[in-house]
Amino acid sequence: MCMKDFLLFSGSSNLPLAHEIAKTLGVSLGKVDLERFADGELRPWIQEDVRDKTVIVVESLFNPIDEHVMELVLMGDALRRMAPKNMIAVIPYMGYSRQDKLHRLGEPVSARVIAKFLEVSMFSEIIAVDLHNDAIVGFFEVPVMHVSALPLLSEKVKAMNIKNGVIISPDVGGVKRARNLAYLLDMDMVVMEKRRFLDKHDSSEMYQIIGDVKGKTAVIIDDIISTGGTTAAAATSLKEAGAARVIAMTTHGVLVGDAVEKLTQAPIDEIICTNSINIGSEKKFDKLRVVSIAPLLADAISTLVR
Ligand code: R5P
Repeated sequence: MCMKDFLLFSGSSNLPLAHEIAKTLGVSLGKVDLERFADGELRPWIQEDVRDKTVIVVESLFNPIDEHVMELVLMGDALRRMAPKNMIAVIPYMGYSRQDKLHRLGEPVSARVIAKFLEVSMFSEIIAVDLHNDAIVGFFEVPVMHVSALPLLSEKVKAMNIKNGVIISPDVGGVKRARNLAYLLDMDMVVMEKRRFLDKHDSSEMYQIIGDVKGKTAVIIDDIISTGGTTAAAATSLKEAGAARVIAMTTHGVLVGDAVEKLTQAPIDEIICTNSINIGSEKKFDKLRVVSIAPLLADAISTLVR
């Protein structure tokens, strides 16, 4: 397939990233009108000829998440009715991914529901970035190219020339991610134990640190920083345990509620996240550095449309 046989579209959640991916691939974004009726119903209108072409839609499933889910699903349905050759959904951030299991009876397994929605829209392949849990790939009946921003993030740490560094998993669920980063950076790994309260949303407390951080630069790696509670609490515990410096890294800078304030005040020297979610000016603060995943996603797309 020649590069011109595909068309790249974007929903409205992360246009800066979509434009950057398009630029890297040497194409422009396909035209789509995302109109709404007076009652709020979305009415996407694709204004390109997609017949026999591969169509790719970039949409980050972030706040207002339900609107973005519907955008992706309805754009998918509009596209499939125009007889494309195949359809790929690029999901830089998959919201609902933390609801990947039945946490308690009476709740849904929402990540699986999202996967089913995308299948109904006839997406034939998915590109996803650092899913909360690898097992989510299995929720999709279609192939999922699950790419990781860890190599990009690790390059930033390498550039800091840290002498006495240790990689921190802020909870037991993140051990594999931390282990992978520790491997990339040839550093040791330390695990923290976190307890979540099911009856209190977005709330957790740190339990204990399993490993030695005294006098070291602690590099926390998490998939998501949402309210900043986990990262701020982890940083405070690490400092109390004698860590010399704390650096926090994440793929998905969700940064909601008072995250910016909490992280500004936390004993963290630097925070690095990617642009899987658009980091608007209201979320930018001094300690925060944003790494672009556009090259990563452009590479992944090139592999599929080659
Ligand atoms: C939880 O399992 C995730 O890996 C993150 O630790 C969590 O989502 C971070 O959320 P918050 O920033 O609200 O503590």
